[in-house]
Amino acid sequence: MNITDENKLYFEDVLRRRFSTRRFKDTPVSMEDILRILEMGRIAPTAKNFQPQRIYVATKEADLAKLDMVTRCRYNAPLVFIICSDRGEAWVEDKKTSYEMDATIVATHMMLEATNIGIDNIWIELFDKDELKRLFNLDDNIEPIALLPMGYGTDDNRPSHLHDKRKSLEETVTFL
Ligand SMILES: Cc1cc2nc3c(=O)[nH]c(=O)nc-3n(C[C@H](O)[C@H](O)[C@H](O)COP(=O)(O)O)c2cc1C
Repeated sequence: MNITDENKLYFEDVLRRRFSTRRFKDTPVSMEDILRILEMGRIAPTAKNFQPQRIYVATKEADLAKLDMVTRCRYNAPLVFIICSDRGEAWVEDKKTSYEMDATIVATHMMLEATNIGIDNIWIELFDKDELKRLFNLDDNIEPIALLPMGYGTDDNRPSHLHDKRKSLEETVTFL
């Protein structure tokens, strides 16, 4: 791989630029951008390359209204990726399964690509998974993992006070 310093700096800039958006404008995200975000999720690594992720794209009013019934954290986003995983398609050995890990890696790719192309976003864990399955008629083996509301933040969109509060490396890393 021939990686220039410019490549490295650009990637770091994307990582440092990302923050959770909790106020979205109504402005829709173009299909071109939606597909680009999905494509960057598609190329994510998964255990044994089984690719169990199943992603539902909500932009219609009726579907966004359903999401509002299962979470208070859509924050008016005009686009929500419902990141799910098919338990039956994931790598399983003994009692271990990669279904959740695979889907979160895919979602991370998507979140960072959204940031890369200027689409504001947030990762949502706080939602009623059973109710979401019921409202969207998802099969039993499809497990909702995360919601990714996306769009354009309002003009006063700023990182929350938590954004800069990261633990030091000393607190989270042990050199063995
Ligand atoms: C796994 C996960 C679950 C999260 N769930 C929620 C949520 O349900 N509601 C919410 O408002 N933010 C949620 N967040 C956003 C976090 O609160 C946020 O990432 C964290 O406070 C750091 O802020 P930053 O993203 O602006 O750097 C979640 C983030 C992650 C990674």
